Amino acid sequence: MKQKIFRIKKLKSKRKLVCLTAYSKPITKVLDKYCDIILVGDSVATAFYGMKNTKTISLNTMINHSLAVKKGSKKSAVVVDMPVNTYKNFRQAEKNAKIISKTVHCDAVKIESNGKNFNIIRHLVKSGIPVMGHIGFTPQYKKKFKPHGLKKNEEKKLIEESKKIEKAGAFSIVLECIAEKTAKKITRIVNIPTIGIGSSKFCDGQILVTDDLIGLSGFYPKFVKKYLNLQKILEKGVRKFKDDVIKGKFPKKMNTY
Ligand code: KIV
Repeated sequence: MKQKIFRIKKLKSKRKLVCLTAYSKPITKVLDKYCDIILVGDSVATAFYGMKNTKTISLNTMINHSLAVKKGSKKSAVVVDMPVNTYKNFRQAEKNAKIISKTVHCDAVKIESNGKNFNIIRHLVKSGIPVMGHIGFTPQYKKKFKPHGLKKNEEKKLIEESKKIEKAGAFSIVLECIAEKTAKKITRIVNIPTIGIGSSKFCDGQILVTDDLIGLSGFYPKFVKKYLNLQKILEKGVRKFKDDVIKGKFPKKMNTY
């Protein structure tokens, strides 16, 4: 197993894992020294391209963003989301995961669980590609954004799903929008790190979409903490630029050749 992935697995119950998404080199350069994992999420579809959902992002687009992220990262593990239609069967999953892995030199790929694709995870891991799982709200397969695991039967299903993902060989699992009591149980039961997004403090680590954290996405469900209002900061700068241009205050002598 790749060194960074091995280290991440060993951190379970030792300290919390810090994870964020990135789609570009400049953002990655900022995140790299603080993060254990940088995920090139297929949330790039909605957060960056303004698409309706993540279902139509292409493999090539994911690879291009991943190459940019890889250029900005030194310390953290880079994990690349596989688009929904790229891992439907063993052959397709292996072919595409190898393309990603060989082109990007990433540390792992992430695939969302549809409650059935555990064999795909097992196959990729056997082929030498570390895999991160993803359960709960899985945007590639679900339409409506809602919390999962609030009911007893949902909790049972999620616990079973996480055990199967662990057994298939995944090195960690993203728990998205899962009720606190269920996330706590899953984290206790599985021996691989759980990375929560909207799934309580009881997960082994936390991930947020960076665009949400910096206040640039306009998508702020309850589980997001906006640490920065970059939209406001950008507006202030752009407004000043506009004033300066209109008033002839920019460019000055010092900006001129
Ligand atoms: O695509 C993404 O950014 C993700 C995170 C929300 C975990 O899958």
